[in-house]
Amino acid sequence: MCGIVGAIAERNVVEILLEGLKRLEYRGYDSAGVALLDSDGNLTRTRRIGKVKELADALHQYPVKGATGIAHTRWATHGGVTEANAHPHFSSERIAVVHNGIIENYQQLRQDLTAKGYGFTSDTDTETIAHLVHWEVDQCKDLLTAVQRAVKQFHGAYGTVIMDKEDPERIIVARSGSPLVIGLGIGENFIASDQMALLPVTRRFMYLEEGDVAEITRTSIKVYDRQGRLVERDVSESDVEHDAGDKAGYRHYMLKEIHEQPTVVRNTLAGRLSESGVSANIFGHGSEDILAKIKHVQIIACGTSYHSGMTARYWLEQYANVSCNVEIASEFRYRKSFVHPNSLIVTISQSGETADTLAALRLAKEQGYTASLAICNVPGSSLVRESDMAFMTLAGAEIGVASTKAFTTQLTGLLMLTLALGKYNAMPKIVHDDIVKALHSLPTKLEETLALTQGIKELAEEFADKQHSLFLGRGDQYPIAMEGALKLKEISYIHAEAYASGELKHGPLALIDDEMPVIVVAPNNELLEKLKSNVEEVRARGGIMYVFADKQANFKSDKTMRVINVPHCEAAIAPIIYTIPLQLLSYYVAIIKGTDVDQPRNLAKSVTVE
Ligand code: G6P
Repeated sequence: MCGIVGAIAERNVVEILLEGLKRLEYRGYDSAGVALLDSDGNLTRTRRIGKVKELADALHQYPVKGATGIAHTRWATHGGVTEANAHPHFSSERIAVVHNGIIENYQQLRQDLTAKGYGFTSDTDTETIAHLVHWEVDQCKDLLTAVQRAVKQFHGAYGTVIMDKEDPERIIVARSGSPLVIGLGIGENFIASDQMALLPVTRRFMYLEEGDVAEITRTSIKVYDRQGRLVERDVSESDVEHDAGDKAGYRHYMLKEIHEQPTVVRNTLAGRLSESGVSANIFGHGSEDILAKIKHVQIIACGTSYHSGMTARYWLEQYANVSCNVEIASEFRYRKSFVHPNSLIVTISQSGETADTLAALRLAKEQGYTASLAICNVPGSSLVRESDMAFMTLAGAEIGVASTKAFTTQLTGLLMLTLALGKYNAMPKIVHDDIVKALHSLPTKLEETLALTQGIKELAEEFADKQHSLFLGRGDQYPIAMEGALKLKEISYIHAEAYASGELKHGPLALIDDEMPVIVVAPNNELLEKLKSNVEEVRARGGIMYVFADKQANFKSDKTMRVINVPHCEAAIAPIIYTIPLQLLSYYVAIIKGTDVDQPRNLAKSVTVE
């Protein structure tokens, strides 16, 4: 989704801004732009539709310079993908603005500003920020005060950076609902929507909090809270790998990230899982006392993270004797729901910045939950900072828009949460010990499963000309079927639906023919015989099946069924293991179809607007 980079320095910042935008490309966008203020006080702007490369080419063809600048990658929300709608937006060639989020009352503001004589050149909500700040600065003659006055009039979400040609020694930034991080340099300072953008120039970061407005000069940073009080915000040193953005020889980030899973799952387990299990304090300071009280878990998440939550529900109820509900964040936040006594709210998110998940957490905190826990991959993210407890998945930076290693590390964390809660809720010792053993074997099992690559590549050939597909699973494999279908549609644009296979006869059987491949996940568990009956229902209707099965499940390939044997594993970790072949399948189908695997059309990595 939209990305912001800004800089105020002594040197020309064009390359810093471009490199920052490139590092944010993975988030998804459709146009890019940059505005620069040079030492003679000239304000210039270059914008292009398409990739950052188009913008870089334009800036190399028509070079411009500036020691202060703001840049943006836009993912269209209000107004189509046009150069006029791309950021930065100007007011009278004086005020320049980049913005992430949505100003919900922009139509009213637009009317008011038009009445005051401002002319609009785009269809965006962002342009109202530029004109409103311009209006306010004309009234109060101070850019900082003007921004503080303007943000009070916005409804909605914003992370915004503002330059004023008449006030070239500072940039003003403001955040509410969209993240912003200040990068601290020596004699220069930076701003971005994600620290990844700034890693080549600094490792020292200050995260702004909700409602903050900050004034950034080359040598100072002053932060004011929502009430306008001067406040201190912590500065932290980032330990994110500088080169986390490298593909390490793989053709795509997604493939690299699929292959990293044994390592990152091992990292996520390390120091947290011992021979005797997990201690509740792995979820943060004081979590032992909190988890001991919990009798119900409410999980909230979006996209792939929602699927890991759905899987956890099976685990928590089956193994830990704790009741659990799971809901999509955008639904949860707009309906009245019931809070059970002694309930824990668990949010799951790779980025920790998904607008709906964050809003759902904030709502839940007002509703009387005992405590909140974030399962998240980004330290310092809003979700982590606003939760009582946090479990960091150690997946490392995930660049591919289609989530892979974040999902399997989330599942690893959730299985550890199952162990921790099971301890206080009569989990039988034999169940506990089996899960501990299974988790210890997980990294090696993942390595063995990745060895299926060649067979899956061949299988992918049979999918590439298909328009539709059906994924089937039962029990804790149903969410895995959903995740497999999501991966296929995200990156290969093939319509894919997932069904709990017991539901087949209630509708989807009508779709079955030899043009609709049916993918089945079939570990050797207590539901195997039921699943086999469902497979026969498909076969009887001429369906063609691709079955990922445990060898002991005894499926045999024939002309209607292709069987790929998945290494045998303990039942508790089977959802994690069976995810791998489905990721590989979607990846190789996308390769054959020639789609943009790492940045699929219309999608964004981090959805910071609702
Ligand atoms: C977007 C991404 C998905 C991700 C979802 C939730 O849709 O493209 O890959 O699963 O957001 O993101 P989160 O960061 O909260 O896990």
